[in-house]
Amino acid sequence: MRILVTGGAGYIGSHTVHALIEKGYEVIVYDNLSTGHDWAVRDCELVIGDISDTEKVKSVFDKHKVGAVIHFAASSLVGESISNPAKYYENNVVGTKRLLDTMLLKSVNKLVFSSTCATYGLPEMVPITEKEKQYPINSYGWTKFMIERILQDYGQAYGLNSIALRYFNAAGAAYEAGLGEEHDPETHVIPLLLETITGKREVFSLFGQDYETEDGSCIRDYIHVKDLADAHVRAVERLLGMNSVSVEIEEYKRFECFNLGTGEGVSVLKLISVVEKISGKKVPVKVCERRAGDPPVLVAENRKAAKVLGWHPAHSSIENIVQSAYKWETVKAFCVGETNQIANRIL
Ligand SMILES: NC(=O)c1ccc[n+]([C@@H]2O[C@H](COP(=O)([O-])OP(=O)(O)OC[C@H]3O[C@@H](n4cnc5c(N)ncnc54)[C@H](O)[C@@H]3O)[C@@H](O)[C@H]2O)c1
Repeated sequence: MRILVTGGAGYIGSHTVHALIEKGYEVIVYDNLSTGHDWAVRDCELVIGDISDTEKVKSVFDKHKVGAVIHFAASSLVGESISNPAKYYENNVVGTKRLLDTMLLKSVNKLVFSSTCATYGLPEMVPITEKEKQYPINSYGWTKFMIERILQDYGQAYGLNSIALRYFNAAGAAYEAGLGEEHDPETHVIPLLLETITGKREVFSLFGQDYETEDGSCIRDYIHVKDLADAHVRAVERLLGMNSVSVEIEEYKRFECFNLGTGEGVSVLKLISVVEKISGKKVPVKVCERRAGDPPVLVAENRKAAKVLGWHPAHSSIENIVQSAYKWETVKAFCVGETNQIANRIL
């Protein structure tokens, strides 16, 4: 039984592929390398292609007996989604619809989908449960919301079985496996802080210090990428009928959703202090105006994933997340490109 991972050359996808291989699964990565990296794909086949290329996707299903798909492939920059929504609706919504149609044509009816807390927009209740109203505040969030809707409709009409995992802030690295975050441009707060202390960036911009939080900065829920990877393994095993933890599906018969966060909020100022402690270096900070649409607090209620998937975020203390991201920042030059093999031996 093989698992097809779209977007498996990207940040979260590559960590999930690693976790699947460690558990003995055969994996095929399907990725157009638009933001992913071939160096991040190890010990499995990489097919370079676009999810919209129906003929190419079909050929993968013809060649391999695929039992389930884990679908990471997407465009995911919030700012870009606002300035260029056409790209996001095309790549995320249309691309996913084409992928689903091809799957069903080839009788593959199990899918784990990368969703996001951005589908909640500005939540009314925090911690956020899966029952919170979904009303995104940017095009990226809307694309993910629409895909969740398609999954539900495809479940009822065509028998697709799907699990949407709504991640909070993915962070950290499996640096010991030569994997970590490598985005260009980088928009995530922990790599931005680390780029500041390693001198790649002059100053860290802190957006808003006048929120109604304890220290005035925004609070987010950071989840280690290894814990995300573990949740994907559990979700796909549930779809394949291999997860030992089992309860009745509550909402739609063929669609489930889970929040993936720790349930604990960390403020940006606290994050800065952890980065300074671990690195032993001072972060130069520039306080800026609030950014439009930044909710003060985004924290997950994660009990559903614990109960149904048996999932617990074991790696996600903020110290562990920052430590691993910091180590990755120091070794990553060795892990990319031709030095990859040497790096593997060093690590
Ligand atoms: N990083 C986060 O904090 C976060 C939070 C919530 C949800 N997500 C979602 O998780 C998924 C993975 O995020 P990431 O941070 O690893 O992003 P990433 O950009 O590192 O990975 C995305 C991968 O998909 C590939 N891809 C994009 N469009 C494609 C297409 N049309 N066909 C084939 N491959 C394509 C890219 O080349 C890349 O390898 C995305 O769907 C994202 O929206 C991420």
